Amino acid sequence: MLDVFGDFSQDDPAAALAEAAAGCPYQAAAENGGIYAFRADDVRHIMSSPQFWSQRSTDRRLAHLPDADRERRARLKAFFAHWPVFSDSDYHKRIRLVTLRLLRGIVTPQVRTSYARVADERLAAVGGAPFDWLTEVARPLAREVVAAMTGQAGATPLIELSRAVMDELATARLDMERIEQALASVEGLRDWLDAARTAPPTPFVAGIARLWDDPDFGPETATALLTQVVTGAHDPTLAALCVVGERVTHDQLDHLFLPRLREEVFRLATPFRFASRYAREPVTVGPYELAAGDRVNLCLATANLDPEHHRDPLRVQDRGAAARSLTFGAGDHYCPGAPLARSAVEALLEALKRAGVAFRAEHVEREPELPTLRYRTLHGRLVRPAPAAPGPQPAPATCPAQRSRPHRG
Ligand code: HEM
Repeated sequence: MLDVFGDFSQDDPAAALAEAAAGCPYQAAAENGGIYAFRADDVRHIMSSPQFWSQRSTDRRLAHLPDADRERRARLKAFFAHWPVFSDSDYHKRIRLVTLRLLRGIVTPQVRTSYARVADERLAAVGGAPFDWLTEVARPLAREVVAAMTGQAGATPLIELSRAVMDELATARLDMERIEQALASVEGLRDWLDAARTAPPTPFVAGIARLWDDPDFGPETATALLTQVVTGAHDPTLAALCVVGERVTHDQLDHLFLPRLREEVFRLATPFRFASRYAREPVTVGPYELAAGDRVNLCLATANLDPEHHRDPLRVQDRGAAARSLTFGAGDHYCPGAPLARSAVEALLEALKRAGVAFRAEHVEREPELPTLRYRTLHGRLVRPAPAAPGPQPAPATCPAQRSRPHRG
């Protein structure tokens, strides 16, 4: 049984997630009266099924809260309902369209150059001494991902402001202190956007600012979209960049086609480990009869370790061009920021390869909560490959793209 409320700060939950993926496909969720679904086929199917949606139904835990707490929780929930990811139907279609338009072409050559520059600079700056990969390499690069949308000046304050919102989303518990802090952060984000409306720093912010005055959307939606893209962009990308540090070796950098290695990083990271869906009508999932409104906690992280789809799932390997993970979701809510996150991770892999180094982690601490992967520290050092032992040299590896290239003429 997967211990959803366990403390995973010291232990990598990967083994527990892989065990859940290979074992029983479902688990009852006593805390919210729903179920967990662990297998890739169920997760993909439910994410794309019209029988489920994302709007939260009544949370039965609220009945036990004092009135003032229930009101605060309801306020935060009402704000989340404006996020693309927690909405459905017509509103979701409209706000998703706006989001896709704003993000179209966001990975410009300038953005790629800025990722490469930051990655190269950070790797050069740390040298051979021990350092924290999280603060010295991953954070500066994750910041660039936010800066690509909001501009350099806004990135740091927006990341700071959105931290409390992510903290609230990261826990499966009802935590009034986190709810309080998240509400305060939302006020800060609203104020930032209100001030930025007079001279938007980027076309992306200008687009969000236009929603503020649009009678079909308004200030709440504009603030919600800004909050979702900042939290949605920064924290999971930061986690994936940390997985590059923790998991990627010289051997992989030398022998794997980098876009395939990048996809393995995202599969093993799965920074958002769960996505929630609610039955819109009575529906059967495995042995469970769900009523309308019942919740299914879809475990993206176990689905990505499902041995039916990923043989030897904890190993990093070339899984071919058709390999698909659920890290960015599936169906109508599929992540529109995936290209931005992918290019940041790829830039870091390329920079490591250029520099001929890999990171060797010596001390790793994560945040304790299972629902999201977040690192506290990732101490270690850059290492170079040991000189090759004398003797016959192995044949140079060819990249899979070259291998599969058809013969001409
Ligand atoms: C490693 C990085 C990222 C991961 C793992 C990730 C993961 C996800 C997942 C799993 C979903 C779907 C959730 C569901 O269906 O319930 C999603 C949706 C979303 N993501 Fe990302 N994301 C990442 C980066 C980004 C970035 C860089 C942006 C902003 C540019 C972004 C913006 C969004 C938005 C706006 C949605 C909602 C889409 C909708 O509901 O239509 N994400 N993301």
